[in-house]
Amino acid sequence: MAIKMNNKSSMVVNIVLTLSLLLIISMTEGRLLGVNIFGQPKTVYCSKVLGVQNGDTCFDIAQSLNLTAKVFNSINPGINCTDLFIGQWICISGVVI
Ligand SMILES: *[C@@H]1O[C@H](CO)[C@@H](O)[C@H](O)[C@H]1NC(C)=O
Ligand SMILES: *[C@@H]1O[C@H](CO)[C@@H](O)[C@H](O)[C@H]1NC(C)=O
Repeated sequence: MAIKMNNKSSMVVNIVLTLSLLLIISMTEGRLLGVNIFGQPKTVYCSKVLGVQNGDTCFDIAQSLNLTAKVFNSINPGINCTDLFIGQWICISGVVI
């Protein structure tokens, strides 16, 4: 009887943990994709930047980091990819909140 209760409550704990994990993941994904789930103005919090080098393009940089164009654009809202200059800082990792 006691074992059954323990199994049940640990199952409930597991379900709760799984659900909160899914919620965190979907919120993070939403932010990474630039989806404005809370209807607030978006702010980019960049955690990693990269200096543009000779010959770099937005596409090359995004591709070498496995970033989709959507993610790349959402963390680099002000960037003009046809007008990159050497030494320009590009955000390569961050969240949009
Ligand atoms: C990008 O993805 C490829 C293939 O999935 C993998 O081999 C490579 O290590 C990844 N690069 C980075 C920077 O995550
Ligand atoms: C980006 O730069 C190019 C070249 O200077 C310019 O023609 C274009 O209008 C710019 N685009 C934006 C969105 O500022």
